[in-house]
Amino acid sequence: FFCLLVLLLLWCRLMRSSLPGVRSGLWGIWLIGPAAMTGFSLTHYQHGIEDVKTAVMISGRGSNMAALLDYATQPETRPEIVLVVADGPAPGLDIAARHGIKTLALPRPDFASRRDHEAAIKDALTTDALTKGGVELICLAGYMRLLSADFCRDFEGRMINIHPSLLPLHKGLDTHQKAIDAGDAVHGCSVHFVTAGMDDGPVIAQRQLAVHADDTADSLAGRVLGLEHQLYPLVLGAMAEGLITLKGETVEHRSGPLPGVITDLTSPLTWQA
Ligand code: GRF
Repeated sequence: FFCLLVLLLLWCRLMRSSLPGVRSGLWGIWLIGPAAMTGFSLTHYQHGIEDVKTAVMISGRGSNMAALLDYATQPETRPEIVLVVADGPAPGLDIAARHGIKTLALPRPDFASRRDHEAAIKDALTTDALTKGGVELICLAGYMRLLSADFCRDFEGRMINIHPSLLPLHKGLDTHQKAIDAGDAVHGCSVHFVTAGMDDGPVIAQRQLAVHADDTADSLAGRVLGLEHQLYPLVLGAMAEGLITLKGETVEHRSGPLPGVITDLTSPLTWQA
């Protein structure tokens, strides 16, 4: 655009003597040119030049992945989901493909060892062809495999997971039944940085709800899943804006603009539903 503008100005200068009235038109070009360039730059920015390339890893239905995709495809949000990786033929891959996202199934049985499996995943997350130069953030969304310490170290501070309990309570599976069995008055979900321990990394944010006397594991699961779909995009957005960072074992929150979502992530680690 800039080159075209310069050529136009040169052309006008050459023609100036032979075309009466062009001289005053030149002033218009000097004014309109910079304004057009500013508008062009802003439009370019809004359409993703600053997007943060993100991969999602799933094992199952992918409802959290879908919530992340819905969020990321809004024009004013920073994350751009470039790849969805599954450790098998997960139903969520079809949802991602329908959104036009690249998908990759890497079934664990196709690899001789966990090391080889993770090497293939890492290749996928870092190759140009699949991720436009390597992903900056990774969201585990129902990815049902423990990742090795080496893999976690490679993506330290850049890989997050959502878990359906108020961590550190109820790690692992059957979290809703565990909450009922423990007589918990509140239950909820957590987003945390991923470390090699199961559901063990530093917690970034949580949302909670009251457990009702007549709740079953299924009824709790449904309500908590609703909270997950709100919380996970919010945290991904904040990560992409650089508002959440991991310093050693400590999560640092910075407040800042997050269009359409909670703007202050500094104080409430737990938000009431
Ligand atoms: C969610 O409850 C998530 O918290 C847990 O696994 C479940 C995945 O569900 N890690 P979905 O595949 O996102 O629907």
